[in-house]
Amino acid sequence: MSVLRNIVILTGAGVSAESGIDTFRDGGGLWEQHRVEDVATPEAFERDPDLVLRFYDMRREAIQTKAPNAAHHALARLDREWEGDLLIVTQNIDDLHERAGASRVLHMHGEHLNAWCTACDVRSRWTGTLIDRPACPECGKAALRPDVVWFGEMPYHMDAIYDALREADLFVSIGTSGAVYPAAGFVRNARDLGAATLELNLEPSQGTGWFDEARHGPATEVVPAWVEEILRP
Ligand code: APR
Repeated sequence: MSVLRNIVILTGAGVSAESGIDTFRDGGGLWEQHRVEDVATPEAFERDPDLVLRFYDMRREAIQTKAPNAAHHALARLDREWEGDLLIVTQNIDDLHERAGASRVLHMHGEHLNAWCTACDVRSRWTGTLIDRPACPECGKAALRPDVVWFGEMPYHMDAIYDALREADLFVSIGTSGAVYPAAGFVRNARDLGAATLELNLEPSQGTGWFDEARHGPATEVVPAWVEEILRP
């Protein structure tokens, strides 16, 4: 492997599982309680906005009662101490990476704690509910929606993500099933561009065969161990 300078880390729901935030596809996960089509598509929002707003109000409230776990803290430590380029691309819409202290974070699927005004396009920090159609802090119109990328919508920050993958010497995927694109394809982009690839997950993901190395176990164990190893080679 070339000198290790630039690291891109992709995280999914598995990194927040031990903080008590449901994943999507594990037994009893979120999508088993709700049909995706009923809550996570623009058509669902058009058809039944109250159902969608209540779903995300519930999730927004729930994540504010959770705390970062040892995996979030280990990644924040790496972010602080790593002297090369480092980018945490998260599919998660919680703020646990930031609350652990990480700063080089991109949310490609949006953020629970933002509200997006469909009238003026401004995103505002939002910790309350949206079901009562509150006024947009910017334009005053009652046109706020969750700032979450729904199925069929374009993920955020894709140009910055592909730029970072081009420069990466190491791509690490943590706590994601490899079920949803484009995130599930990043490992192949990274390989094709010459990066080494590592999977840290509870069990083999759907894309595990694409990784040079895979370590399986709970994120609160395998992530701190890997961070220690990479900071103290
Ligand atoms: N430690 C490490 N990995 C874990 C843990 C844990 N404690 N618990 C679960 N996992 C792993 C599971 O094995 C699984 O591979 O985390 C992964 C969770 O997969 P998903 O539930 O599919 O979540 P994710 O991969 O983030 O989903 C991607 O799909 O529905 C969309 O927008 C949603 O961002 C989400 C995207």
